Amino acid sequence: MASINSPKGTHDLISNEARAYKYISDICEEVATLYGFNPLHTPIFEANELFARGVGDATDIVRKEMYVFKDKGNRLMALRPEGTAGVIRSIIANKLYATNDLPLRYYYSGPMFRYERPQLGRYRQFHQFGVESVGIGGVYDDLEVILLAVHALQALGFETITTRINSLSTRETREKYKEALKEYYKEHLNEVCGDCKVRYEQNPLRMLDCKVEHDVELAKKAPKITDFLTENDKKDLEFVKNALLGFNIETTIDFSLVRGLDYYSGIVFEFEYLPPSGKNYGAIGGGGRYDKLVNDLGGPALEGVGFAFGIERLFHILNEEGKLEHTNVKDDLLIISVGDTARFDAYSLLTSLRTHGVRATTNFSDKSFKSLFKIAELRGAKYALIIGENEVNNQVVSVRDLESQSQVEVPYQEIVNYILEKLGFNHHHHHEECDCDCEGHEHHKCKCECDEHDECTCDCECDGECTCGECNCTCPECSPKKKEE
Ligand code: HAM
Repeated sequence: MASINSPKGTHDLISNEARAYKYISDICEEVATLYGFNPLHTPIFEANELFARGVGDATDIVRKEMYVFKDKGNRLMALRPEGTAGVIRSIIANKLYATNDLPLRYYYSGPMFRYERPQLGRYRQFHQFGVESVGIGGVYDDLEVILLAVHALQALGFETITTRINSLSTRETREKYKEALKEYYKEHLNEVCGDCKVRYEQNPLRMLDCKVEHDVELAKKAPKITDFLTENDKKDLEFVKNALLGFNIETTIDFSLVRGLDYYSGIVFEFEYLPPSGKNYGAIGGGGRYDKLVNDLGGPALEGVGFAFGIERLFHILNEEGKLEHTNVKDDLLIISVGDTARFDAYSLLTSLRTHGVRATTNFSDKSFKSLFKIAELRGAKYALIIGENEVNNQVVSVRDLESQSQVEVPYQEIVNYILEKLGFNHHHHHEECDCDCEGHEHHKCKCECDEHDECTCDCECDGECTCGECNCTCPECSPKKKEE
């Protein structure tokens, strides 16, 4: 039977790649949390009308790129092409705005869907991390989300990011500017591409963003928004630019930056990074202020500002630069068992090791040593533990260091401790961040305040060897030693 392909423009995230994606959104979430943002998860599908009204009927996204379908109840639904409209809908539906604590600050991440022509860095299902700050607008809110974005990019390892900013002013100013654009383009209407003919009618601003060569040339000579910006717009733009420069963030004002969604007003921005390879994945993120969206979607007169990153684009660049290798997971060891009796012993040992946090597997059927060593290597294991007939008879495990290829035999009853020692595990294995120096074993509570230790349950196996001096252990084995000290 013919196999089934993944839908065009989609991609599977497999093993370490999925981990890297999670790592990227985890870092973004951590930084957003630092800035006082909270998570908000909204559905992947919403009423079609939300995006028609929110993102804008005239945008390419709504006109051409949405996955729209009727559900079995005959409701017209759409897969979300972006996250802002859903967050605002939720803020309104749940009356989250009914608080004195404005701005509301939310972050989100997850898949978005746009029926675009797939190309480098462009997918039909892609992932975003985004934030929205909704309240009474001001330049500090704009500044804050831009700083948050840059902070997250730096935390991910991006060194030189360029921030382009522009102002799209108020709706009224934009209308005047649109009129001027229409006036200019009127004489060139027969030269522009089919899409731009539609944009001319619906939103001439978008003509400035067209990628068709001749239209790019025409856009260069078009009236500039600068000439229409109010003194206030200019002041805000200068303020944000200078503040960003003051934080050493490379920032340029780009009057051709119009963005692809209709809800923007005031400051808009995009982040760019060109990797040394020269490959251009497109903008890694973008956003801006929206002053009417909340109102247009049936909510109160609140303003918002936010941005979203494209996680695919962040991933491609970071991956190309080798900055995601630390997110790859390796096995600590592989237990190789030969024969049924050995397999059972191997499985018991495996279980003990796993309870101590050792990442390990074993073979469930006999295979050649050669292929098993190969597997150990593939999984990045440091040790192979071999249990065959001889080992079972002598109650030992052969431990092979896969780097030095040296091999030793360790008795069954010592093997767990031996391995934990070799792997450098102590009771801090599960919470590496704690820098307490106590070397007490796992059952002892130390005073490092990391909240990870259990009280001493002392059926103590410490043989009086607990030297941490910090724990409250009063078991007969530990106490005499402590008293001596
Ligand atoms: P956007 O510029 O349409 O803004 O998308 C944000 C980012 O998502 C882009 O910069 C890009 O990195 C990524 N992206 C967009 N389309 C694709 C695609 N087809 N494949 C891969 N990545 C893509 C928004 O979506 C706004 N909601 C941002 C925002 C939040 N504005 C205010 N608040």
